[in-house]
Amino acid sequence: MNMATSPLDHVSPETNVFLVDVIHGLRQAQKTLPCKYLYDETGSRLFEKICELRDYYLTRTEAEIFSRYLSNMAEHIGQDALIIEPGAGNCEKVRPLLQQLDSPAGYIPTDISPEILLAARAEIEALLPTLSVQAAVGDFTQKAFWNSFDCPPASKRVIFFPGSTIGNFDPEQARALLAIFTSQLQPGDGLLIGTDLDKDSVILERAYHDSEHVTAAFNKNLLTRINSELQGNFDLSLFAHRAFYHSLRQRVEMHLVCLRSHDVTIAGERIHFREGETIHTENSHKYSLNGFRGLLEDTGFQTVTHWTDRECRYAIHYAQVA
Ligand SMILES: C[S@@+](CC[C@H](N)C(=O)[O-])C[C@H]1O[C@@H](n2cnc3c(N)ncnc32)[C@H](O)[C@@H]1O
Repeated sequence: MNMATSPLDHVSPETNVFLVDVIHGLRQAQKTLPCKYLYDETGSRLFEKICELRDYYLTRTEAEIFSRYLSNMAEHIGQDALIIEPGAGNCEKVRPLLQQLDSPAGYIPTDISPEILLAARAEIEALLPTLSVQAAVGDFTQKAFWNSFDCPPASKRVIFFPGSTIGNFDPEQARALLAIFTSQLQPGDGLLIGTDLDKDSVILERAYHDSEHVTAAFNKNLLTRINSELQGNFDLSLFAHRAFYHSLRQRVEMHLVCLRSHDVTIAGERIHFREGETIHTENSHKYSLNGFRGLLEDTGFQTVTHWTDRECRYAIHYAQVA
């Protein structure tokens, strides 16, 4: 679809890009939708709920590692550092870190979803009134986005990327994203990054197919979003949430399965869905400690250290630009 001939009237450039991505993804043999679109305001709220679920061990485990090793992390980061957080969401995880750091030079939270980010910025400003906080809304996979905000002077820049968000990118895309990070940093600047570790498929699948069906609602919200923003007519009752571990690719895949053959119209474009075919909506890659270290080293970082929980379910790595 040509953006100039979009059938939607009076739409923002972002909505046009969303439409182009959706139509392009749904015209592939394996239908797919970019996972960044899962996060509108409703999706971001649902993700917050996912983080609180018993089955979703990632957030709990990461929080345990942070609370145990926070002072050690702050020592590695050092004094007068600028913290930049791509995909900060509600900025929950950075708060104790910012409080622990020695005179941080500033904090730049960024996200594609503005509502939660802007509310979180106000909360951080109330918590740490002397800290310089600048929120930036945009897509962190686009190099141009990184030029849309100014970084205050600092002894070093540290990119904070928790939540295993790197796992949403396949290894090639992850390499490209890490290369964007290095391009924004100088030698000695840091990256504090969380990765989920490979483990038993039963634990993994339960985390993405929780018994309270919150992840199912999060996944299906993408169709609701297409209906409301792109004049779509998805019938949500004709799709089911599916998540499974793909051991060869070391990732949990999230799909929406079509339950009955039918057509869907999006901004005037008709798309046919066969019974049983799926829309692939998200990947969550799982790493070994060595595998992730290799990825960091391939993209100009040298790992300084990492921390894990006792059961080695999850890891937080600190790396520096070589
Ligand atoms: C897995 S959540 C993690 C949120 C938070 N960092 C945490 O650890 O709880 C991913 C976050 O990144 C944001 N996000 C996803 N893709 C993005 C993109 N391409 N550009 C900017 N933000 C993105 C989402 O809106 C969401 O807030």
